[in-house]
Amino acid sequence: MAVVIRTTEVSDDPRLRDLLDATELERAGRRPNPLPFVTAHALLRRLVADETGIDPRRLEFERRCATCGTDRHGKPHLSGMRDLHVSVSYGEHMAVAVVTNLGEVGIDVEDLESADFDGFGSVTLDASETPYLADLDGDDLLAARALLWARKEAILKATGHGLVVDPSQVVVSAPDAPAALLEWKAREHPPGPTQVSDVDLGRDDHRAAVAVLTSRPVTVRVQRG
Ligand SMILES: CC(C)(COP(=O)(O)OP(=O)(O)OC[C@H]1O[C@@H](n2cnc3c(N)ncnc32)[C@H](O)[C@@H]1OP(=O)(O)O)[C@@H](O)C(=O)NCCC(=O)NCCS
Repeated sequence: MAVVIRTTEVSDDPRLRDLLDATELERAGRRPNPLPFVTAHALLRRLVADETGIDPRRLEFERRCATCGTDRHGKPHLSGMRDLHVSVSYGEHMAVAVVTNLGEVGIDVEDLESADFDGFGSVTLDASETPYLADLDGDDLLAARALLWARKEAILKATGHGLVVDPSQVVVSAPDAPAALLEWKAREHPPGPTQVSDVDLGRDDHRAAVAVLTSRPVTVRVQRG
């Protein structure tokens, strides 16, 4: 299997809720705007269903937190399917999901607006990465920031750390260079071979990236919804 990614705009189609289980519906109901959550989890279920032939409503997901060990939050896994790895990401407008059997996987989508804050560099970047943004302004700057952030978060979702690891400790390649993890400076155990790819969403206002923990060659297939 390749790394199979599906992307979609957030939808208000009420039929999406029919795909979700009771836990997901309860979690959706706790949000002021449940639509991104519902869209993303329905997207992930449909993607895995299409890749495995299993009814999307019969899939069971578990979560496990790498930091505290609880099953109430953390990286998602498919129950009883240890060879398949999944990840999901969503914001106000877009949702993305990925499935692969190549290794632990993480995906992240970022709205350019979410990268529009003072202090982005000090929160997010290692000193070696600061020059990446030196000559950029306007939307080019926001797009470069969003891409760097998406690459880092995809890596941290693949490892399961999430933002428990400071993203400035995860050094990635320049936005105009092929995506790569250049250096792991965090004190947490480094992930080993890590392949990172940018995900072409076909739109200017978001950036996305995927990371897979494997030394095997990775083919990424993007299915845009
Ligand atoms: C993972 C994280 C970076 C995602 O943040 P985000 O940008 O707000 O959200 P995204 O839409 O990109 O991704 C959300 C999905 O990431 C997944 N996720 C959550 N924690 C994860 C982790 N540690 N590793 C990998 N994936 C994780 C979940 O599937 C989640 O979706 P869900 O909550 O609807 O089930 C952030 O939630 C985080 O850092 N969480 C970990 C915090 C933590 O572990 N604290 C210690 C608790 S003891």
